[in-house]
Amino acid sequence: MITPYYLYDTSLFSRTIEAAKAEATTLPGAQIHFAVKSNSNPTLVTIAAKAGLGADCVSGYEIERCISCGIPAEKIMYAGVGKTDREILLALNAGIGCFNVESIPELEVINHLAASCGKVANIAIRVNPNIDAGTHANITTGLDENKFGIPLIQVFDVIHLAHKLKNIRYLGLHFHIGSQVLDMTPYVHLSRYINKLQNMIEAEGITDTVSINVGGGLGVDYVNPEANPIPDFKTYFSAFKDNLNLRPGQELHFELGRALSAQCGRLIARCLYVKQAVGHDIAIIDAGMTELIRPALYQAIHKIINITGRNEQRPLHTYDVVGPICESSDVFATQVRLHEMRRGDEIAILSAGAYGFTMASNYNMRPLPQEIIDN
Ligand code: LLP
Repeated sequence: MITPYYLYDTSLFSRTIEAAKAEATTLPGAQIHFAVKSNSNPTLVTIAAKAGLGADCVSGYEIERCISCGIPAEKIMYAGVGKTDREILLALNAGIGCFNVESIPELEVINHLAASCGKVANIAIRVNPNIDAGTHANITTGLDENKFGIPLIQVFDVIHLAHKLKNIRYLGLHFHIGSQVLDMTPYVHLSRYINKLQNMIEAEGITDTVSINVGGGLGVDYVNPEANPIPDFKTYFSAFKDNLNLRPGQELHFELGRALSAQCGRLIARCLYVKQAVGHDIAIIDAGMTELIRPALYQAIHKIINITGRNEQRPLHTYDVVGPICESSDVFATQVRLHEMRRGDEIAILSAGAYGFTMASNYNMRPLPQEIIDN
């Protein structure tokens, strides 16, 4: 097999989905949508479809992928601050379940395009709750300073506008505060915020909110992935069950990406060279930030294993593990203990099933890595 490549464990993906579903069913009206931006591999999306999940999409291409993999259009949510006319028309013609609307101009364009093709668009208003998810700045989305959502001060006007527009059907409210969230306190805060907002909206005379979407964001254990392959869904869903007051019959939507897909994928690479730099040894592997950009972009931790060295029970040694790309940030880890590295060793970078392949690039004219399904 030509390295580097992604290797997916579909059995773990299915078990993770089932674990999430088992906890979600304790919440009346709960529906899980797989955030396919985390992993849009057709085999995985098909598994999610067969398990009855919906999808959270952020482009027309993702919508097409989900439909071709069997996710019913009405279970597709479409978010993003920059939906193009082509994408909006594609989503309207497909009959998706909901547009998560991020601005007034976008709402007006959706109405206009829906009118042009004789459709009515289901929409939810994405509210920016100004809640700190306590995660890395690049993956925090629910603060006033972020580009996402509509600030509270405009929410009532936008809902009134949605009711006035003839080709728009107002369904409810959408939120997403950030990603890789491990402390559940921000979700408790979000639930209480939604409770207050629902009261305020009803006081404004708006009583037709049928859908609440709390987004995604549940984090995974990047440090000890083998010990904790399935995230703590019980605590996550309990944060909402114990704190969110839904109205009778209201739907509750979740958009989980990383929590479902991260641990199911690993990036397999080979050691090219080991070189001695001043004061540290550097292991150069044939995967780089082109295949997995998370360490370079978010200083993310991914556990690395020297599979060959471990199999041969070689002694441990300290390395910086870097890729071949001409960028100083092309570093997977510094000062990690690994079984002695030699040229040709097989290396696994764990927890790479989410935002791994989907963020890969062709920089340095490198081809995209293959994705291999391990059945
Ligand atoms: N819903 C919305 C509206 C989102 O923007 C996102 C992720 C999700 C759901 C799914 O979030 P998750 O459950 O996967 O945390 N590339 C970054 C993560 C970016 C997340 C973007 N939005 C990373 O590698 O950490």
